[in-house]
Amino acid sequence: PPFTPFSVRMPVPPVLRPVSTKGDADVYVLPMRPSTAEIFPGHPAPVMTFGGTFIGPTIRARAGRTVRIHYANKLDRGATVHLHGGHVPPDSDGYPMDLIEPGRSRVFEYPNRQEGATLWYHDHTCRKEAEHVYRGLAGFYLVEGEDERDLRLPAGRYDVPIMIRDGRFDEKGHMIFEPSPMPTTLHTNGQLQPYFPVDARRYRFRVLNATLHRIVELDLGGLEMVQIASDGGLLPEPLPRTRVMLVPGERVELVVDFSQQAIGSKLVLTDVYGGAKEPVMRFDVKRRVPDPSRVPARLRPLPPLPAATTVRDIKLSMTASGEEFAINDKTFDHNRVDARIEEGTTEIWSITNTDPADTPFGPVDHTFHMHLVPFRVLDRDGKPPLPGENGLKDTVLVRPGETVRVQATFTGYKGRYLYHCHLQEHSDIGMMAQMEIV
Ligand code: C2O
Ligand code: CU
Repeated sequence: PPFTPFSVRMPVPPVLRPVSTKGDADVYVLPMRPSTAEIFPGHPAPVMTFGGTFIGPTIRARAGRTVRIHYANKLDRGATVHLHGGHVPPDSDGYPMDLIEPGRSRVFEYPNRQEGATLWYHDHTCRKEAEHVYRGLAGFYLVEGEDERDLRLPAGRYDVPIMIRDGRFDEKGHMIFEPSPMPTTLHTNGQLQPYFPVDARRYRFRVLNATLHRIVELDLGGLEMVQIASDGGLLPEPLPRTRVMLVPGERVELVVDFSQQAIGSKLVLTDVYGGAKEPVMRFDVKRRVPDPSRVPARLRPLPPLPAATTVRDIKLSMTASGEEFAINDKTFDHNRVDARIEEGTTEIWSITNTDPADTPFGPVDHTFHMHLVPFRVLDRDGKPPLPGENGLKDTVLVRPGETVRVQATFTGYKGRYLYHCHLQEHSDIGMMAQMEIV
């Protein structure tokens, strides 16, 4: 449908209120249910939601305090929920074969024994994950670390989650789901090219790329964006940037200071990846206010990196037929354990994308995401990691022909956990495997 850019205000997803905060846990009820959303203003379209809103409500958890969520499935099909970036017991990890059937509910427990970080929850149904997430089953889950309070980073209404997603739409403004490298349009917190009024001061933006297969590179007209965190939380020190690349599943936290901007100025956040120039949203500077926030020179030291005792090779590639995607030449089989890891040990995973860089649809990029534990990126083809990759990560880009080495310590829980490409159309058709921590 016809559409005027920057005509709708970017919504900030509501923060979900616990039904109980007694005792040792905050308890939430979160139904999954069909709803409608106006991604195209004035054109209500069917979507799948957590809690009725596209995108789902934000859960704000405290590091060290348990969150228990009753997920009730009011959809017409089985679904499940994975907490991406969460350090959780295996039976709360959203195993793709162990679905919550329609009409049923299930309690997942998130102990939050991890550092403050921007996580997200999303469906993880076997072979249906891409479609379910695309249609709306995703939301933010923010773990707030004790250590963050003293840093005086922008907080409260100046701490804003931004979920970038993509879609193809028919003439009624309804989403078309058709796995393919077809061009898509970006939408932000559930709105196409919204505007967002800001005060002339610092903001903390928690940006998530929740698209199906788009790499985005954000540019704010050259204005500095200070990266303070990556997937696993705060970086050791802030990193000023003017362009920020994000692959599906990745998060960055950016502090943007609007205090030098004229009142009334409008700054467009644009995706410039691969020569694109697609507006994502616009910031409209409204008024001067005092700003007690700051970005300290030191944020959070990285945890120690124990020596690795095992090196594993991981190959990401199309199958010979070109119809499926595989890890080490095998498509996902829930009856097979692909990596057995002793609890408490540290390993280096050397991940190589052997797919071509030149197809009619462009390069066959992959990403690598691991459940349960964060990792550190050691190098890319022997060279230093990309800017902002020096913190704790759980999702990384692996380009055609590239080898990325990551290092992780497998602690906390025993059981089966997944690793996969986070282009969900790839993981749905095989590019997923499982490790068992023993
Ligand atoms: Cu966000 Cu298994 O993934
Ligand atoms: Cu992939």
